[in-house]
Amino acid sequence: MHQIFIMSVKIKALLKTAPEGQQLTVQGWVRTFRANRFIALNDGSTLGNLQCVVEFEDFDEALLKDVSTGAALKITGRYVKSQGKGQAAEIQVEDLLIHGTADPESYPIQPKKHSFEFLREKAHLRVRTATFSAVMRVRAALSFGVHKFFREEGFHYVNTPIITGSDAEGAGEMFRVSALDAKNPPLDENGNVDVTQDFFGKETHLTVSGQLEAETYAMGLGEVYTFGPTFRAENSNTTRHLAEFWMIEPEMAFFDLNDNMDLAEKFIKSVLSYALDNCQEDLAFLDERYAQEENSKPKLERSEMGLLEKIQFIVDNDFKRVNYTEAIDILRNSKPNKKKKFKYIIEEWGADLQSEHERYLVEKHFKTPVILFDYPAKIKAFYMRMNDDGKTVRAMDILFPGIGEMVGGSQREERLDVLQERIKAMGIEEEELWWYLDLRKFGSAPHSGFGLGFERLVLFATGMGNIRDVIPFPRTPQNASF
Ligand code: 4AD
Ligand code: MG
Repeated sequence: MHQIFIMSVKIKALLKTAPEGQQLTVQGWVRTFRANRFIALNDGSTLGNLQCVVEFEDFDEALLKDVSTGAALKITGRYVKSQGKGQAAEIQVEDLLIHGTADPESYPIQPKKHSFEFLREKAHLRVRTATFSAVMRVRAALSFGVHKFFREEGFHYVNTPIITGSDAEGAGEMFRVSALDAKNPPLDENGNVDVTQDFFGKETHLTVSGQLEAETYAMGLGEVYTFGPTFRAENSNTTRHLAEFWMIEPEMAFFDLNDNMDLAEKFIKSVLSYALDNCQEDLAFLDERYAQEENSKPKLERSEMGLLEKIQFIVDNDFKRVNYTEAIDILRNSKPNKKKKFKYIIEEWGADLQSEHERYLVEKHFKTPVILFDYPAKIKAFYMRMNDDGKTVRAMDILFPGIGEMVGGSQREERLDVLQERIKAMGIEEEELWWYLDLRKFGSAPHSGFGLGFERLVLFATGMGNIRDVIPFPRTPQNASF
């Protein structure tokens, strides 16, 4: 610690420093102010608070009145061994400046247990709680772990467009982007909205995936990845769906489906182990929170492993690879299927898997992450490579305990004629994809990629129960506040 007289120090660094009576300045927000004497100060750099002790005789009473939970302070004092228990060191406050007060009558984040539902309505302030600050620090670390992994593997980061004229997944759940006057749009001679007069001269949407554009870059840079926001207007009000989420999409030339699965598994393990190594304090705190939450559930519904154990388990164990046909057999013969406990009963090959089926496979049957591959072509997107059986495609989904689908990916169809056939069979306009088809005309090569929903990974790593609580400002049906 040098030059501490000039700059304020971060509490994270300070808590690792020996208290030797050095004078220094810290800045942060009051978590609690006890007995008119003990300020617990937090600056977001770390989970822990710094105890700052004021001798109230030394300070103006009116000033101390304004020190309350939520207030922003600048404190200068001596960093000394703590007299009390609970902390090794503390600050003896010599100078106190209040940057901003927080009226206790109206400041909503008080030092008591608030429900996550309540805090969602205060999303602009919830990061000032221990739980949300821990979650958001882990989120930031995971994000760095993603870039670190790909950089070290020789991938190039590319940014694909957010406004797009194509529908990658063909699922028709896109948000329209328009600059036309919604009340009085120009009409064509048939009375339809004349999109040629819109900003881009055509219909445009927010992207559901950067994959198709990423493919073009893989066909020149070799190995690339995107990490950006994606948007889906699906009306899924679940704890696993957002209308705006961040997706990581690597795309690799000369990779087949097995290479793709190997990479995805290695990637997930690497990012989770980065978090284990770099977020120990926050994860220990979230592990404790998770244990408390599990304990409040009925015994049968409790997770067999703690949060840290679950993460370590993923890092240490091979994912189970199972093809769709085997999975259907397992599901068809499963207890919940025979006893009609599933909402969607699996009757025949070709059925799309619902999250109840995915969760049965990972949580009850295999008890480990599962990579399901070779799905029926009918239930997958047009770009997936057709197998020789003419029925299945080289798709793979990675299913996670407690989460369901974490990753969706495939080997891509690199044969022009086969791709054109699929596009036709699925009723997609070929002209829209002229540039995508060009990749198959000029230097086409086998290639593969996948998409990982970043919030689902954060959900898993933090043990939180609702995806709305692992992104700063969640966008869900009927909710775009803040
Ligand atoms: O399986 P999906 O739809 O795959 C694609 O979009 C491909 N283009 C990816 C690729 O091959 N490059 O979505 C990928 C992942 C899912 O596995 C899931 O983790 C996440 O994105 N995801 C969502 N996460 C949160 N909210 C939603 N509404 C999500 N929809 C998908
Ligand atoms: Mg999918």
